[in-house]
Amino acid sequence: MSKLLIHGAKKLQGEVNIHGAKNSTLPLMAASLVCGGKCILHNCPSLSDVDTSERILNHLGCRVKRSDGDIEIDPTSADGYNIPDDLMREMRSSIIFLGAIVARMGKAILSYPGGCELGPRPIDLHLMALRRMGVIINEDHGSLNCVVPNGLHGAVISLSFPSVGATENILIAAVLAEGTTVINNAAREPEICDLADFLNSCGAKIRGAGESTVTIEGVKRLSGCEHRVIPDRIAAATYLAAGAATGSTLTVSDIIPKHLEPIVPVLEESGCVLKTNGNKMTIIPPKRLHRVKSIRTMPYPGFPTDAQAPIMAMLSVADGTSVFVENIFESRYKHVGELLRLGANIKVEGRVAIVDGVEKLSGASVEATDLRGGAALVVAGLTAYGTTEISGLNHLDRGYENLERNLRNLGADVKRI
Ligand code: UD1
Repeated sequence: MSKLLIHGAKKLQGEVNIHGAKNSTLPLMAASLVCGGKCILHNCPSLSDVDTSERILNHLGCRVKRSDGDIEIDPTSADGYNIPDDLMREMRSSIIFLGAIVARMGKAILSYPGGCELGPRPIDLHLMALRRMGVIINEDHGSLNCVVPNGLHGAVISLSFPSVGATENILIAAVLAEGTTVINNAAREPEICDLADFLNSCGAKIRGAGESTVTIEGVKRLSGCEHRVIPDRIAAATYLAAGAATGSTLTVSDIIPKHLEPIVPVLEESGCVLKTNGNKMTIIPPKRLHRVKSIRTMPYPGFPTDAQAPIMAMLSVADGTSVFVENIFESRYKHVGELLRLGANIKVEGRVAIVDGVEKLSGASVEATDLRGGAALVVAGLTAYGTTEISGLNHLDRGYENLERNLRNLGADVKRI
């Protein structure tokens, strides 16, 4: 089992290039299934979740080629309609393939993705939407048997919560459906816009992506296209948090500054100065971080739940008390127990976490139990005196490309053993 060893409390400096967004790449790979020709995706990160998506596409009969950050997907020979249980379990977001498979094949057999390290991850909104579009879904002992007897048709779908995954599944299913689909209370995340841009480049007719109401006029057929994946705003937020926590001036590059707007007020309230120059952002932290009164995770453009853990690690060494309210996932404070081992002072009451900043953290053995929780441990380990040993790296490898190399380039003393 590999571990990350961090000799912390060192200043970082320099610039880190931010890789393409995991949360865009995965739905884009799924969406390529509904295209009528070859799709080339640029700026794809090399991550284990991307490997899993590639295996799913291969299993479904697509031809996939990868080199560096490019993924070429030829869906023309795809004829599969089931995803084996082990692939469904490997990556919970494999449910994003459901809309694409039913749209292409008129049927699908998938196992239920089940609960996860963030608490239960229901898919009722995905299923409700697809049912409204003409999919008959039988749920039987954890498996989903889907058929589309009369083809997919447009529908008006009002989501009770702006679910990112459900919005993506609807978009992908609706582009080839008969008639018009309207999504009310759609998710507005940048990854939704990226997916809509990709599908529109293939000939889809999607309007309003990035707004609460999205309209999709079904077309008969899509072509392929070439598309560049947007930068990973959560990876950028993680490196900025690492800079702030270690009192280091550093720059994230290849970003879209607008996508970081939801986290900027929090970084500023902590006393950091942020300078944006084109596609780069530099963080200049104060001598000691200030507490941030309250941070509530919200759907975009609110503060992202995915940045909650790394920012909490950062504020665990701030001067004063910061309060977090996690509104998106039920159980997203698993990193807190591990941060306590490093000397943080954090209390959790249901969806609220109260972080009393300490002067310094000290190294310990800790375990990542989920992706962003793992990122929090890296941020904390970089600030901690002594050696921090992080296990559970499979979680980190799902979302951060070249993490150790990037940190070493910034001057951190990090190695994988
Ligand atoms: C995506 C991101 C994840 C991020 C999350 C919220 C990907 C691969 N993952 O996950 O990193 O943390 O958005 O920004 O893009 N819900 C239901 N029923 C459903 C679907 C969702 O109740 O059918 C609930 C969830 O339990 C959760 C909330 O809605 O409480 C948000 O989930 P959702 O936006 O769907 O997140 P994901 O798409 O799974």
